[in-house]
Amino acid sequence: MALPDMFLQELISRNPITDVVSSYVRLRQRGRTAVGLCPFHGEKTPSFTVYPETSSFYCFGCGAGGDTITFIKKIENLSYIDAVRFLADRCGMKMPDDKTDDAVSRLRMRILEANRDAARFFHRMLYSPEGREGLEYFYKRGYTDKTIRRFGLGYAPGNNSLLHEMRRMGYKDDELTAAFLAARSKRNNQLYDIFQRRVIIPIIDIRGNVIAFGGRVLDDSKPKYINTSDTLVFKKSNGLFALNFAKASKEGSIILCEGYMDVISLHQAGFQNAVAALGTSFTKEHALLLSRYANEAILIFDADSAGQKGAQRAISYLRQSGIHIRVVTIPDGKDPDEFIKKYGPERFKLLLEKSANDIEYQLIQLGKKHSLETSDGRVSYLREAAILLSRLNSSIERDVYAGKLADELNVSKSALLDQIERYRNVAVKNMKKAELSQAIRQNEGVIRKVNPEAASNIRASRAEEGLLGLLILNPDYIPAVSKRLQPDDIVTGFNKNLYIKLLERHKNGQMIDLSFLASDYQEDEMSYISRMVQNARENPGTHEQALEYADIIISEKKMLLYSNPENLPEDKLREMLEFIRSQKK
Ligand code: UTP
Ligand code: MN
Repeated sequence: MALPDMFLQELISRNPITDVVSSYVRLRQRGRTAVGLCPFHGEKTPSFTVYPETSSFYCFGCGAGGDTITFIKKIENLSYIDAVRFLADRCGMKMPDDKTDDAVSRLRMRILEANRDAARFFHRMLYSPEGREGLEYFYKRGYTDKTIRRFGLGYAPGNNSLLHEMRRMGYKDDELTAAFLAARSKRNNQLYDIFQRRVIIPIIDIRGNVIAFGGRVLDDSKPKYINTSDTLVFKKSNGLFALNFAKASKEGSIILCEGYMDVISLHQAGFQNAVAALGTSFTKEHALLLSRYANEAILIFDADSAGQKGAQRAISYLRQSGIHIRVVTIPDGKDPDEFIKKYGPERFKLLLEKSANDIEYQLIQLGKKHSLETSDGRVSYLREAAILLSRLNSSIERDVYAGKLADELNVSKSALLDQIERYRNVAVKNMKKAELSQAIRQNEGVIRKVNPEAASNIRASRAEEGLLGLLILNPDYIPAVSKRLQPDDIVTGFNKNLYIKLLERHKNGQMIDLSFLASDYQEDEMSYISRMVQNARENPGTHEQALEYADIIISEKKMLLYSNPENLPEDKLREMLEFIRSQKK
């Protein structure tokens, strides 16, 4: 699957890393680098850094790092070859040879084709005699033919009719199970349709691919929905239903609700910026995705306790991604679907307009919890409200809400602000501690996984990492170093292989650069390598420094060999004694 260097070089230069990253992260120029909030972990202060000169990125918080291709792999959840294709499409380059497709990306393509054909089949069935029940169900819920067509809604009749149709179209059994359209029965080992006698809601991603389905029963039986599990083309935790429409609506805001049916009703009523998480609760990934397409999220969750819990969860993730949040509470505990059906779009619009921002919403929720008639109740309300406000990063926000609260409860604003400040100091301290220890843990976790030998060979691995980082940034050091240091001298396996790769590329006159390593290394491995480069960038080392590292590695390797002298032949033993004597001097 090796792509020609020439091609990769052009690909990297025609996709400047700051441009590519800017589609996902708001970057600020800082000298020769650009910084922003890391898209791979939640953070409030930017530690994600882009280095245009080396077309690479590194996050000081979570240790994620790599080149442009690794960035796309990670953020779009693609394989190496698909990430390259993504970048090629982005700048209008042709892939050098489409036969380089590996088995995985071929299967990925087949799944997408199968999903599209299945969606067509389900939709056709809806308007056929077999689908009558399904069509009536949608009509009963007030959906028009136009809505049904727009969302490509369908019906799965059962009797393995999808399976028969797909086999007739030439799909292999393995492809159908990989797409989660069919499963194998444990009883008789035969395939059967996963979606049976359900109305079908296809999930379409922002590129227009059908990536999954939700299927609802027509009555009250359980489970109400069956959803596609994770497949090669779908990850439940980071897909949003109807984002394909919402992202084009240019509202600047996105309405987040709980269910498929709510979203469809809202769109039909003219609110084309509504989306929902798919069969899971709202995740960090959802928050990051949303913040890429909107600067405001309007949350509409059911009034029941599960819904309110969901709202709190979404608020905390969305806060971390820095977008503005408003929360709509629907009177009488209805969901948006029922509300619109009963009162119409105009009344719904009013609800949106008078919706509270998340802080007001949370203050109201707190107020409901305490009885404000008693002093005890007021004191505990004030305490919890102060804790809530202490989490606000903007001092203006803190001031405004403290003022409102003080007026409302008739207490002194400055006393309240003092209290908030005290909570804030504690919270900031705790947060910094938590962020730091989490970052350290993550970093260590990555290294342990990627290069397990590093932990038991600390001095050697430090020197190896130092050396390799230097060599990637300064390939002109390679000739001298390679004369002194043989690959077999390197103690840890991962670093040895990396060293071999660098020597090979250098010998063949090829460029040394993170971008050329991306095809051979997984994301975690790229993070580890990026960390070496990062350290070398921070402590630029000379030629001599590189040779010193080489010497440390050689002596560490010897120490290691000599710690098991019984395995050594006679002449080596003599060499060892001499070495040990020389070390003692
Ligand atoms: P709801 O129960 O609120 O469903 O679940 P709904 O979409 O409003 O459907 P109606 O109005 O009762 O027909 C909200 C979301 O939770 C997920 C689905 O994504 C659903 O849209 N869910 C719910 C499941 O995945 N499985 C279930 O069994 C239930
Ligand atoms: Mn509902």
